[in-house]
Amino acid sequence: MDLSTRYLGLALRNPIIVSASPLSADVGMIRQLEDVGAGAVVLPSLFEEQIREEERLVDLLTSVGADSSPEAGSYFPAAVEYNAGPVGYLELVAKARAAVDLPIIASLNGTTEAGWVDTARLIEQAGATALELNIYRIASDPSVTGGQAEADAVALFQAVRAKVKLPVAVKLHPYFSAFGAVARRLDDVGADGLVLFNRLYQPDIDLVRLSWCNDISLSSATEIRLGLLWLSLLSGQLLHASLAAGTGVETADEVVKYLLAGADAVMTASALLRHGPGHLRTLLGGLETWLDARNFSALADIKGLMRHSHPNAEAQERDDYIRGLLGYRGPYVEV
Ligand SMILES: Cc1cc2nc3c(=O)[nH]c(=O)nc-3n(C[C@H](O)[C@H](O)[C@H](O)COP(=O)(O)O)c2cc1C
Repeated sequence: MDLSTRYLGLALRNPIIVSASPLSADVGMIRQLEDVGAGAVVLPSLFEEQIREEERLVDLLTSVGADSSPEAGSYFPAAVEYNAGPVGYLELVAKARAAVDLPIIASLNGTTEAGWVDTARLIEQAGATALELNIYRIASDPSVTGGQAEADAVALFQAVRAKVKLPVAVKLHPYFSAFGAVARRLDDVGADGLVLFNRLYQPDIDLVRLSWCNDISLSSATEIRLGLLWLSLLSGQLLHASLAAGTGVETADEVVKYLLAGADAVMTASALLRHGPGHLRTLLGGLETWLDARNFSALADIKGLMRHSHPNAEAQERDDYIRGLLGYRGPYVEV
């Protein structure tokens, strides 16, 4: 069975990519992920805030002398534990590249176009195969318009793109008023891939402590539908950028659905954090079994098979939506 695919212009042995998470912060684990069949690995993100903090400390040290050196790690102890800090991150990139044959995709995570993006070049020099730029921004200032938020995202991508020659993907949340236009614009200005979608971490309120809870829950398979919709709408519509699906893979069924909708690659984090790296074998085995049972001999045969080809997709989506509402049946609704 030929499971090979292309993502960001890279040839992958199969479409399953390990998404950014603490799992890929460890070189031993990355080796294990290669052994169980990963197509590529995304490293955990290095955050704009960490890079800025390190720059601030360097400025401080050079202006007041080394005697009063505060410990860089003390500002972001949790973050440093997560990704080893900016210097450690470059080491992680280099070590991961040396340890495995898999593509190693580094991840930068930020929102503003400023000096921190220079780190992209250092990441390239450290040997990353590609870079994923995670633009995780909640435009909470009501004076920021949708158009401005889109323009900012594109400008940030362009700033990073200008620093490096390696392939660059953009990981985005879906909450733009016209996501298709954002995708097309990023494609136009040279994005090599789009990751659909970033999962928006929505806080909850603890009613006993009267405090906000920002803990991260792992995803479930019910979360794939928005990604399926946009992959199916964008597949075949972009000139250059490849598409990766990003949320809710629990079993091989979600992998197959994403590929049918038009994904070139499928990322997973929660399922591997929940079941361990060996779960990747289960996903791959399930994908092969599904293809085999339907006499497909290559992954390429199903990529985008179910993408929307309706000439007026907007009207079609409205039609499907109305049919969905009218078709609801339940214990309190008379047929
Ligand atoms: C514990 C944890 C840490 C994560 N860290 C990062 C990160 O550093 N950078 C990033 O872009 N995404 C990060 N993510 C998001 C995942 O890469 C992924 O986009 C998200 O979890 C949705 O995929 P899933 O449904 O397979 O979990 C993290 C997710 C989890 C659960």
